[in-house]
Amino acid sequence: SDEELHQRIQAAKDTLQDKLVILGHFYQRDEVVQLADYVGDSFQLAKAALAHPDAEAIVFCGVHFMAETADMLSNPNQHVILPNLAAGCSMADMANIDQVEDAWEQLVEIYGDEADAEGRVPLVPVTYMNSSAAIKAFCGRNGGIVCTSSNASTVLEWAFERGQRVIFFPDQHLGRNTAKAMGISLEDMPLWRPNLPLGGNTEDALERAKVILWNGFCSVHKRFTVKQIEQAREQYPDVRVIVHPECPMDVVDAADESGSTDYIRKAVEAAPAGSTIAIGTEINLVQRLAAEYPQHTIFCLDDVVCPCSTMYRIHPGYLAWVLEGLVAGEVRNRISVDAAVAEPARVALERMLAALP
Ligand code: 13P
Ligand code: SF4
Repeated sequence: SDEELHQRIQAAKDTLQDKLVILGHFYQRDEVVQLADYVGDSFQLAKAALAHPDAEAIVFCGVHFMAETADMLSNPNQHVILPNLAAGCSMADMANIDQVEDAWEQLVEIYGDEADAEGRVPLVPVTYMNSSAAIKAFCGRNGGIVCTSSNASTVLEWAFERGQRVIFFPDQHLGRNTAKAMGISLEDMPLWRPNLPLGGNTEDALERAKVILWNGFCSVHKRFTVKQIEQAREQYPDVRVIVHPECPMDVVDAADESGSTDYIRKAVEAAPAGSTIAIGTEINLVQRLAAEYPQHTIFCLDDVVCPCSTMYRIHPGYLAWVLEGLVAGEVRNRISVDAAVAEPARVALERMLAALP
């Protein structure tokens, strides 16, 4: 039963004490969040992994790319564990390293006549945290950087100080929403479809491009629509609409504001009592906020429940299983990024950490 699993997890935590830290993303189910030592957005959790160099095990209740990042930021004798290895991210899977290298080769050829003395073209690769370690490593090797939804505009500014163009992996929506807010016009943001030559663009379009957007998206955030926002405004004329920047551009434009999962949480926390807030993000977070802040009316824009199915794969049963393994001296479901990949990926991650105020 749920209660029994809770007790088993708590007992393992009591035994392991400071040897263990459990990190939980905001999208995790309540039963997991209750047992996490830190709950946060993907950037906060990456920093929490860095902040616990003495814990022997970091159990990451989130998705695969988050655990990979924690492994790369933690020290080599720490074990990062993902309770269910099937907890991936469909958006991160939309950019594979072969496709990315192929795109880069084509672009380097197009921008070749603008190369500097060392042969580097003025194109900076930027990857959203929601990407494999291999893509982060690619960015690290090619003068690029990682961003999360809480720092994407600062990171894009960093990139534009180093080159006049950016290629942004893998979320076209976060890339487009961020670049648009910086004043870049839509015509200067071609979409790169990896299965087509030149990503389906003309050479002219790529030459004038400022941000080349990889054709990836989040299947959860893609569900939100302008119509849902209009309906919410009709029903509650004073509603405040807050969405995650992984939503399509027209949805972000129609909302009152957009921001990372932590931004959304803080906005709810700071809202005056009695606020009506419609949220466009994953349902576990929205429902938890609604329960934590009963003084507000909080609801999800999409009335068909929209969980992130892979985040949901971290069932407390898996958490109990990996923790009991640790108690027995057995490391189960370790995520360990090969040093050849981790080293350049860490360069891209550290550039992000250094670029922030
Ligand atoms: P945050 O960076 O806002 O935590 O988002 C991560 C994510 O996967 C959203 O879909
Ligand atoms: Fe990936 Fe979307 Fe799930 Fe976030 S909500 S982990 S982007 S599939």
